[in-house]
Formats: sequence, C-alpha cells, structure tokens
Amino acid sequence: MSSNDNNSNAYSDFHLQFIGGEWQKGKDDSINTDTNPYNGDTIVEIQQATKDQLDEAYDAADQAQAKWAKTTPAERAAVMYKVVSILDQRQDEIVDWLIKESGSTRIKAMVEFSSARAITLEAASFPNRVHGEIRPSNTPGKENFIYREPIGVVAVISPWNFPLHLTQRSIAPALALGNAVVLKPASDTPVTGGLLLAKVFEEAGLPKGLLNVVVGSGSEIGDAIVEHKAPSLVSFTGSTSVGQHIGELANGGEYIKQVALELGGNSPFVVLKDADIEQAVKAAAFGKFLHQGQICIAINRVVVEDEIYDDFVERFLAHVKTLNVGDPNKQDTAVGPIINEKQLKSLKDKIAKAQDEGAKMILSGEIEGQVVPPHIFTEVTREMDLSCNEVFGPLVGIIRAKDEDDALSIANDSMYGLSSAVFTADMQKGLRFARGIRAGMTHINDISVNDESNTPFGGEKNSGIGRFNGEWVLEEFTRTHWISMQNEPRQYPF
Ligand code: TAP
Repeated sequence: MSSNDNNSNAYSDFHLQFIGGEWQKGKDDSINTDTNPYNGDTIVEIQQATKDQLDEAYDAADQAQAKWAKTTPAERAAVMYKVVSILDQRQDEIVDWLIKESGSTRIKAMVEFSSARAITLEAASFPNRVHGEIRPSNTPGKENFIYREPIGVVAVISPWNFPLHLTQRSIAPALALGNAVVLKPASDTPVTGGLLLAKVFEEAGLPKGLLNVVVGSGSEIGDAIVEHKAPSLVSFTGSTSVGQHIGELANGGEYIKQVALELGGNSPFVVLKDADIEQAVKAAAFGKFLHQGQICIAINRVVVEDEIYDDFVERFLAHVKTLNVGDPNKQDTAVGPIINEKQLKSLKDKIAKAQDEGAKMILSGEIEGQVVPPHIFTEVTREMDLSCNEVFGPLVGIIRAKDEDDALSIANDSMYGLSSAVFTADMQKGLRFARGIRAGMTHINDISVNDESNTPFGGEKNSGIGRFNGEWVLEEFTRTHWISMQNEPRQYPF
C-alpha cells in the first residue's frame, strides 16, 4: 500500500484542466490516458484541451499578470514559502505520484522531490533580489536608469523524465518574479508535470489566472502555444529536435519571442589513469543508471584511459551486476521501467545497432514489460551510435582513450555540450581537463548528474540556450528596460 492510500487529505481528482483558476473539462475529442509505466494500469483519463481553451488560458494569464507584477516582493515570496510548506506536508503523496506516473524509483523520486523543493525555496528569494542600475551618461543633464521588470506571460513546455522538478524550476522562478504562466506538461506525466503543482499553488493561495495548466498533445497544440501572441518567453525542456522547431517558430513567426531551451545531452564521464577506480566505478553506475538513464545529464559515454581500461571494466561489470532491477516502488530498486513503448523500442534498436557496429555486449538481460536491465558494451568507438547520440536508457558504452589528450578529444567530439565529468587524483589536472571541455557544466570526481538551485544549469551547442537557477534564471525570466531622464534642456544640433 502506498502512503497515499492512507491520506484522506490527498489530492485525488486529476481529470480536469486548470485554466483561469478554475478546474474545467477539456473540450477536445481526444483523451490522454495516463498510465503507470511499470504495470500498465490506467491512472487517470484526461479529456484534452482545445486551442480555444489555450486562448482562454493565455487571456487569463495576461490579465492576472498585470496585477501580480504590482504586488510587493513580500507577497510573492510568501506564496513561494507556502508552496514549500505544502510540498513538505505532502512529500509522501508526491513521491508516490512520481513512482506511479513517471516510473521513478524511490531513490530518484526523493532526489527529484528535493530538487523541486530547493528551487522553490530559491525562488522565494528572487522577489527581493531583483535590482536595477544607474549608469552615467555622456549627455549633460541626463540620468540613465536600468529597470528589471517581469517579462510578462511565460509559456512552459516540460518533459516526462523529471516532470515535477523540470516544471517547477521554470514556473516557480517565473511566478516569483511577477510573471504569469501557461504550462503544457508532457503527455506521459500530466499530473506530476503540471496538475499536481497547480493544486499546490492553488492551495498556497496563488491568485487565479497566474498559473494555467493545459493538457494536450505537443503535436496538436504545441505550435499554437509557441506562436501565440501572449507569451514573451517560451521555456522549453525536452528533445533537441522539438527544441530546434520551437526556436524556429519563436524567432521566425509573426510574434518574435525569447526562448530558453534545455535540450538533449551526451555527457562524457572520463576516468584518467590516476583516478580512484573504485570510486569512479560507483559514480559511473549511479550517474548512468539513475532513473534508468533517462536524464539529459546522465552519463552517456564512459571514456577510460587505456592503462586502466580493463581494470575499470571488470570492476564496473561486477558492481552493475549487483543492482536491483524491477519494481520502482521497492526501497532498494536501482533500475525501474522505461517511460513508454516508443522509448522502449528506441532502446531495443540501439542494442541491436551497437552489436551490428561491433561493440562487445558484456552485460545484458531479459526485457520484461518496460523494464530494461543494464546493458554494458565495451570496445566502443567514438563513431558508433552509442557514442554519437543520446541514449536515454540503461545502456552504456565504454570507450578506450589512448591518453589524456585523446580522452579530451573524445569528450569534446559531440554536437551536444550539456554536462560532463572527469575522475583524477590530481585536482590541478582535473581543473585543466574540465576547462578544456566545451560544455555548460563539468564535475571533477563526481557524476555529470548535478543540479543545485544556486548554480547555473544549462548547455552549449545543440544542448540549448539559457541557464536555470540562481541569478541566471532571474535574468532569464525578467526584461531590462533602460529609462533615461533628461533633467535640463538638451542642446540639439538643429
Ligand atoms: P519531446 O518530444 O521533446 O517532448 C518534450 C515536451 O515537448 C513534451 O511536453 C511534448 O509534448 C512537447 N512537444 C512535443 N512536440 C512538440 C511541438 N511540436 N511543439 C511544442 N511542444 C512539443 O521529448 P520526448 O518525446 O518526450 O522524448 C524524446 C527524446 O527527448 C528522448 O529520447 C530524449 O533524448 C529527449 N528528452 C530530453 C529531455 C531533457 S531534460 N533534455 C527530457 C525528455 C526527453 P507531448 O508529451 O504531448 O508530446
């Protein structure tokens, strides 16, 4: 029994849309059937939203935002603190939802809950951290003021892998900074990626219309969300291909808008010859297999220096064999189910392709339902599919590097540049290596999976544009406005 079943105060009804502060039925003919990826049970059926309902959501957001922007910082901070306190009260319930809707293991659900809580707490500080500037002027009698204002209405499109956190890290800062939000959660996780957070913000007393959750398929209403006149910023987290499409729409359509794009990754995990191999092995297993590898910053390529390659492989294989695979609800499960059939098929294709390309499969196992046990491939080269593309699953290729320079060249040989990691006993060498990597984030003697609410999170190249967290997201979700004041009559040339 989950703790949810015992809680009479638990949120229960998730079959409605949340628009203009009201729970209303979707008016489209299509239905989103939200299923548990581990056992296939139907969790909830949601009638999807029409484009008219999307317009309604944008109208509500637009109207509510003007008033919200004029509230005091203390009022907006108070809502965020209330959200944190509700998250705390409902932690067990939320963790249960993450397990049953997104196939999170208990360990991952706790990691995700903590991250979502941390960014909400950080967002509570934002209203009081917004500040402007006064700049000197070369024009006699002029003063220059630079104001930082809310950006207006923000469209948020979020993914299914860390639905609670990756949604909250956009909506909490956006709201705290005086904006309104129209959110479209991923179709696989409409509850943990949206409707559940709508209940939390409603309970926290967020005024009506500031947060709208529109459940609908990305292929049906995605373009309309981006092309709409109302949003000044589209905050998208998901695949590089959809992100590229959104970037084109946002900058090539009738209404130009800013985009924040957090896209795919291909994180290298480099083990140099002087590294603590045992520690690197444990890190590689956690950073690769947490949430079945379905994380944009998950380890995608393990790169090991030649001298320790065989030793590393032997110990890594032994360690990964000890991981528990299966029911995500069990306390000690390390690897749970894959989110959906489409992702499962892509992983089966990748396993076949890796073998076709000549990689040696040293660990595999039977795929049961949507549970794919860890698969390890050795003698992987940088040209193979496993190295070039994002895996998003519990498969890993281990690449042999001739030396440190070769390892760096392999690490940088990717169209992505999100996260990365290097293991070495020599911190100076580690720092030099880290600074040589073209990525938004690099962790020395740790995994590529790190997210802290006060440090910049984001990538380069095809991993996207923009940064989350701390003052970086504060800038992202506000606009600058230069206002000059001419205090004495200016002398014009004519
Ligand atoms: P996407 O298709 O990119 O889905 C992410 C979000 O975008 C979902 O809310 C999706 O809605 C929406 N979307 C889809 N098409 C859209 C469109 N034309 N306009 C606007 N929004 C649209 O990712 P996915 O299919 O869930 O996963 C595929 C691959 O994406 C994975 O294998 C992985 O490589 C990558 N991925 C990356 C991340 C991160 S954090 N970088 C997260 C998840 C997936 P629907 O759910 O309704 O389609």
